[in-house]
Amino acid sequence: MKNYFRKWGAIALLSCGISILPAWGQTSTAQTDSTYHKRMSWFDEAKLGIFIHWGIYSVGDVSESWSFFNGRISYENYMKQAQQFTAAQYDPKAWVSLIKESGARYTVLTTKHHDGFALWDTKYSKLNSKDGSPAKRDLITPFVEEVRKQGLKFGAYYSLIDWSHKDYPNHTKDITRYKIKDDPARWERFCKFNMGQLTEVNTLWKPDLIWFDGDWEQDAATWNSTGVINLLRSTNPNVVVNSRIQGYGDYATPEIGVPCSRPSARYWELCYTINNSWGYRKQDQNFKTPQMLLTMFVDCLSKGGNLLLDITPKADGSLLPENVEVLKAFGKWIKKYEKAVYKTRAGVPGDYFTGYTTVSPDKKTLYLYLPYKPIGKVQLKAIINNVKSIREVGSGEEIPFKLYNKLSWSEVPGIIYFDIPERLLDEYITVLEVELEDELKVYKGEGQVITAN
Ligand code: GLC
Repeated sequence: MKNYFRKWGAIALLSCGISILPAWGQTSTAQTDSTYHKRMSWFDEAKLGIFIHWGIYSVGDVSESWSFFNGRISYENYMKQAQQFTAAQYDPKAWVSLIKESGARYTVLTTKHHDGFALWDTKYSKLNSKDGSPAKRDLITPFVEEVRKQGLKFGAYYSLIDWSHKDYPNHTKDITRYKIKDDPARWERFCKFNMGQLTEVNTLWKPDLIWFDGDWEQDAATWNSTGVINLLRSTNPNVVVNSRIQGYGDYATPEIGVPCSRPSARYWELCYTINNSWGYRKQDQNFKTPQMLLTMFVDCLSKGGNLLLDITPKADGSLLPENVEVLKAFGKWIKKYEKAVYKTRAGVPGDYFTGYTTVSPDKKTLYLYLPYKPIGKVQLKAIINNVKSIREVGSGEEIPFKLYNKLSWSEVPGIIYFDIPERLLDEYITVLEVELEDELKVYKGEGQVITAN
């Protein structure tokens, strides 16, 4: 419980812009800046990823791993869920087609959560879908094959923690638990096991991304963060690694709480749930609407980040209609506004425009996202550049605008006002493009009193 809050505390502080972890993207593995940015380029343009939490907890009665760790269910009863993990309706082709349809360019699947139950036929433990469940097979390989076939990037979620392993210090059944310093040989045995499984993950599928989790239980030196990353890159040199290896990764991963200001990390990704749960929960009907989730997506875009949106298949591999609906809505919206999605960069803060904004790579186009139906005129302020045109992106239709109070004596730019005809409003979020004469420049001052007229 304590550790759980420690981790959430760290994430919460990060969301408020106070970093208590090592600088993101500053991996200790020797690498030039250009190698780093080259490695990150697909991630930077992908914008949307689909997260999949699937495991024995997908039976749906209790939460993933935490339920036994926090004593809501006994370890034995939690593990019994494996008997119902059938994967009988699992259709990796349909999963990947839907993910592709959503407009996502990558997907991250849980290969092993903190409970230690692996979804492939690992040779390091019998606790896996082939040997320990009626699914009786490796579930990751067919998924990866489909992901490759359909041209997406594959991310492997891997929990560093293993609460089932007898040599892990927080092994749940071991009442005494142990301190690593009191029994380093035991910790070494766990590290060998962990490196063994990680090597399988890294070599079997050569993931484009390794999405670590659970790092908060040990420090960087204990995990040997640098050694782990070096090991992965020795055979998979371009693999992108998230920050949950005590900060030694390529990008930051705020969770659930959307950052309130632009994160300091160059690359970041918000992981986010559709209802309130990471894995399938029967009683969790608190589903967000596609409009709410798309708004979160453009919020991330406007701050230069990605959204990793989580879906929750059931134990038999079937997808929830509520998840399918959201992914299809994303697909429809992104298709219409593609130009204002993949290649965009962080925009200007909400002070300039009531809504979200991004800019094109050449900074000569400002995109405006309106997740609402305006009452009267829409206002855009403090843009120093001359505006050539404003258009609705889906239709390309030009929207007339008027500039007010562009005063010759003042350095404060004027204010632009325009109406959006009802027929151009999108059902979720309307997107406009503001074409500028040159690279976007905004006024950042406090206003000005008259000095001449
Ligand atoms: C947290 C939770 C974990 C979940 C993950 C997804 O670390 O502990 O259960 O899988 O977030 O980001």
